[in-house]
Amino acid sequence: MRLEAVDETAFAHVDNRYYDGIHYDRRYAGYTWDTEFWCSFAESVGRDVLELAAGTGRLSVPMAVRGLDVVALDISPSMLARARAKVTTPQRARFLTGDMRDFDLDRQFDLVLLACSSVCHLLSDDDAKRCFDSVRRHLQAGGTFALDLAAPQRETSTADGSWRPRFRYPDPAGTGEVVVSGRRRYDPTTRLLTDELDYEFVADGRVERATRVSRMYPFEELVSLLERSALHVVESYGGFDRQPLTVASEVQVLICSLTPSGVLDGTESPR
Ligand SMILES: C[S@@+](CC[C@H](N)C(=O)[O-])C[C@H]1O[C@@H](n2cnc3c(N)ncnc32)[C@H](O)[C@@H]1O
Repeated sequence: MRLEAVDETAFAHVDNRYYDGIHYDRRYAGYTWDTEFWCSFAESVGRDVLELAAGTGRLSVPMAVRGLDVVALDISPSMLARARAKVTTPQRARFLTGDMRDFDLDRQFDLVLLACSSVCHLLSDDDAKRCFDSVRRHLQAGGTFALDLAAPQRETSTADGSWRPRFRYPDPAGTGEVVVSGRRRYDPTTRLLTDELDYEFVADGRVERATRVSRMYPFEELVSLLERSALHVVESYGGFDRQPLTVASEVQVLICSLTPSGVLDGTESPR
């Protein structure tokens, strides 16, 4: 098994609290509306699941509990430590530190999943190509790649540079809350969205400033980047209830298969 050394550029835009497993779980405690969809979907596709950017195991752990064999990859050791601590069926879940932009686990899966807008951590077409090529190499014949992400317009509609309240959650230290405000800027040329965030720890008044950069992926752009890696979108939805994807959708759910011919666009040979 080869995993690329986790390189510093992945954290160049670090928002430490975002990559901190305990903070992440507090912040996303209410984010549950995709869980049943992805667990049922995984069960319908097969037994061997690779979740990329799996974080604290929000999806990987329930999948393992439901009897699927899950390999979960994430770049953040802190997130993975949280995930490992939740697992009661260790034989069904393995948590690996690695970079989804280039990985080689030397095996194939029925399903590769990239959920919860994690694709937005691919900050360039080159990042996306390397990740999707790695995905292709890890799919069984007939395997499925599935991903979901927030619709770009939902994210960029508030990218006007104004400071706003963003979210709050109980302080993992035990007392009070963490109150987060931020401002966003969007560069349509690079499709990079920059969030400057102030984390205020109410208990002692401390404020931590952080920056997070993510990339927006309109549906057509994503389809075309996936096609370059011989991944073909066969179903798309505008929500986890399988509603049709429209310009008004807040979520994009994409289900992809290997293109029938497996023919690439000529820029790369399969490894
Ligand atoms: C929005 S969270 C999603 C976590 C989890 N999939 C969920 O649904 O809760 C994004 C995750 O992507 C991870 N991540 C960011 N860049 C990555 C990379 N280059 N390779 C692997 N994981 C990465 C972060 O550490 C974080 O855990």
